[in-house]
Amino acid sequence: MTCSRPSRAPRRVRVVACVAVTADGKIDSAAREGGGFASRLDRDRLDALRAEADALVVGARTVRTEDPPFRVRDPARRHRRRERGRPEQPLVVVISRSGEIPPQARFLHEPCGGRLLALPENPAPAVSGGLEALVRGGELELVRAGHGEVDVEVLLAQLGTRGVRSVLVEGGGEMLAAFVERDLLDELCVTICPVLLGGRDAPTAVEGRGLSIAGRRRLELLEVERAADELFLRYRVGRGT
Ligand SMILES: NC(=O)c1ccc[n+]([C@@H]2O[C@H](COP(=O)([O-])OP(=O)(O)OC[C@H]3O[C@@H](n4cnc5c(N)ncnc54)[C@H](OP(=O)(O)O)[C@@H]3O)[C@@H](O)[C@H]2O)c1
Repeated sequence: MTCSRPSRAPRRVRVVACVAVTADGKIDSAAREGGGFASRLDRDRLDALRAEADALVVGARTVRTEDPPFRVRDPARRHRRRERGRPEQPLVVVISRSGEIPPQARFLHEPCGGRLLALPENPAPAVSGGLEALVRGGELELVRAGHGEVDVEVLLAQLGTRGVRSVLVEGGGEMLAAFVERDLLDELCVTICPVLLGGRDAPTAVEGRGLSIAGRRRLELLEVERAADELFLRYRVGRGT
């Protein structure tokens, strides 16, 4: 099924992003090995953030390189979601220009509160036969928003009309940049992991075109937690400069 642009602006969706970085600001190695440097504690923090979200948003390259599971693991957190009348698992939204998602990707097969693949309206990329079959079977829904690329603001409005009130953007760097550049991020959770990776080509937390110094986003530190050599930081993201 394809969603059209909503006619009425719904209530704004709250957007939180989370990222685990090395002490030199990388989110993966230059060889793109798919992460693996975050601690067990950080994975649990991610689980808690997921449990608070109505929808998880991720860039297609993260699905292709890392193929992480997108689900709340902790049964107590799932139970609390049910008690609050929410689905046990959040909706998973993967964003792509190309439509190139491996049909065996985990998010397409693990339990979740629905799966959306968000693509530009035009040019509308073709999706593989494997994905088509999942769409026909009702296991995956295609949504269209934007020209040339997915307009994340339009996408958020579409999610809002479905009752989504909070979104967790799980990366990677290009995906985060789309939200930062459009001034749509409310909070950023960063775990600084006690490792170095280096590498000019290693991805960083926010990629994209980048902002000028004058156009930089200001952050307000809301929380700091130290656990062994790891630092967890939660920031409020300022609007504009
Ligand atoms: N340490 C961490 O916390 C963490 C978290 C997540 C990911 N990672 C790592 O980050 C790396 C991936 O990051 P990345 O910056 O290279 O890629 P990414 O942000 O995961 O994905 C980029 C892709 O997302 C799609 N995309 C992004 N913005 C779009 C838009 N506005 N409209 C349409 N499509 C859009 C495009 O997909 P198509 O190419 O299909 O067109 C684009 O190539 C991986 O190595 C992963 O392991 C680390």
